[in-house]
Amino acid sequence: MCGISAIASYKPVAEKLFQCLINLEYRGYDSCGMALFDQQSLKLRKNIGNVEEVGAKERFFEMSGNTGIAHTRWATHGGVSTENSHPHSSNDQNFVIVHNGIFSNYKTLRKSLKNKGYQFHSDTDTEVFANLLQEEFKKTPHVEQAFCQAIEHLQGSYAIAMITTHQPDVVFAVKKDSPLVLGINDGTNYVSSDINAFIAETNDTVIIDDEEYVIMTKDNFQVKRLVDGQEVKKKIIKVQWDRQTAQRGGFSHYMLKEIFDQPQTVRNALHIPEEEIGKIAQKFLDKKQSYFVGVGTTYYVAMIGTYLFSQYAGLHVPAISSDEFPSLIPTDQNNHVLFFSQSGETYDTRMAIRKAMEGGAATSAIVNVVGSSISQTVEDCIFQGSGPEICVVSTKAALSQIIILWQIALKVGELNGNLTAEQAHQFRENFNSFPETLETMINEESGFIRDLAAKTFHVRSWLFMGKGIYYPIALESALKMKEVTYLHAEGLPAGFLKHGTLAMVDDSMYCLFFLPYREDSELYHSTMNAIEEVKARNGKIIAFCTEDDKEAQEILDHYFIIPKISPELTPLLEIVLAQLFSYYSALHLGLNIDKPRNLAKSVTVG
Ligand code: AGP
Ligand code: GLU
Repeated sequence: MCGISAIASYKPVAEKLFQCLINLEYRGYDSCGMALFDQQSLKLRKNIGNVEEVGAKERFFEMSGNTGIAHTRWATHGGVSTENSHPHSSNDQNFVIVHNGIFSNYKTLRKSLKNKGYQFHSDTDTEVFANLLQEEFKKTPHVEQAFCQAIEHLQGSYAIAMITTHQPDVVFAVKKDSPLVLGINDGTNYVSSDINAFIAETNDTVIIDDEEYVIMTKDNFQVKRLVDGQEVKKKIIKVQWDRQTAQRGGFSHYMLKEIFDQPQTVRNALHIPEEEIGKIAQKFLDKKQSYFVGVGTTYYVAMIGTYLFSQYAGLHVPAISSDEFPSLIPTDQNNHVLFFSQSGETYDTRMAIRKAMEGGAATSAIVNVVGSSISQTVEDCIFQGSGPEICVVSTKAALSQIIILWQIALKVGELNGNLTAEQAHQFRENFNSFPETLETMINEESGFIRDLAAKTFHVRSWLFMGKGIYYPIALESALKMKEVTYLHAEGLPAGFLKHGTLAMVDDSMYCLFFLPYREDSELYHSTMNAIEEVKARNGKIIAFCTEDDKEAQEILDHYFIIPKISPELTPLLEIVLAQLFSYYSALHLGLNIDKPRNLAKSVTVG
């Protein structure tokens, strides 16, 4: 879950390496460190805190050397301390490494290395590998061979970068179940957990696959297979992400910027080629039973998919959280599973894919990050083209996935006769105007939402409720609130309230209702019933409603006005307003919005 990076260059790398760390910080931010080869020896500096703090404290930019490695950590083994920060070096100081992932057999390795006289200075799983390198090099004084031999001892998941005094101009790297990419530039080459690290320098990328290792110098790179040491000819991919999208622009936080990016990312999602949509749509028809799978926000996207498919395609496609999928679903050739992942690296989702494939199911995915593990594993993948999402909490990536899912649902509906071509055409027409509506709404409403957040940010506990498709919207919005404000926010179906949770409601309970248009009459009235139930217990009620909905406005304590557009688009407007509400609540609380405590962008561990 952390970020690793390495550079080999013809000129000093400290500044660029530090920039890579800044660009990767969203992956983990407990502590960080850098190691560079300087003259005769490896120099290492690390400490706890965010990249900027540690960079200033340790004066990273003063380090000299043309080859280096860097790490920003999200601790899995061993607390947050300077000793546990990466890089870690071998006892003889000749090997220094950074690691993303978990060595699951580290206890056994540590014990056997201790028996051989090695000392350990941290509680991490990572440190064993530095000493394994020293030990293997003692047996075989050839760096590449020693590197491969040391890797043979490892179990678990890893992306590792290593530099050594024995071959000072070279970076060695390897990957299994954790992401690793190369950035190729003239005279300065990069290794990194993801392309954000170097996208401002080069768009030329090489994706490293599992069980491949890399030998990289300033002007060359070789990728080889661990199994037989054979060289693999890799393609250099030109990544289309533009540099500006990866930057914050004039916004105070990436979260706000990414919320405001949404009209554009929705446009991109609406322009996914028809063949790509059609190919995945066909799988829902070819297979007896399909499932939607994702975790966290993408699980809620999956749930939204269940409602969209029921509405447009007349099919029940259950949504399952990736972490539960392996214990729940025995898949076979009659199944198709559509996975969702922004990062394309999420461990739980990768394990669910593995399980689905073992059973013989057809697999497809909607993924944001090009070249990510998930995109390479499934049979068919749609890249959503949302551009880099830097804030740890997902906003624009999730909305784009919903838009793509909605297009697949329409296509399936058309193909299986649940919709006429005319109906499908009408729905598409409605969606085409969505980006503009969204744009206007975000601009017009954000002042009001900020003011409301100023009045309510003291609230300790929230219930977020909706019915039908508004239920997963409420769940996702509650997750957003929890992630950025650390407040308790529980999402639940509005109709479920009276079956238990209502006991909690009194005048200190704040409830946010995702209310449909009045025209969506059945859903509207049953949501209004729940609102009345809260009102009768003096609970505080905030809801989304249209300007002309006086009935709702009379009983609501506060409301967000949503523009009147076709009813199927309303939930999507509400999800965006709820994102803004969470953002402004966190802003008033003075929290670290782009990097909430205890979280990381890419959860590559199980
Ligand atoms: C999003 O706000 C969260 N940080 C988290 O739930 C995330 O959606 C989840 O970890 C799945 O990530 P993925 O989309 O990269 O697979
Ligand atoms: N397991 C290593 C540690 O705890 C790396 C953590 C990570 O990948 O985030 O330091």
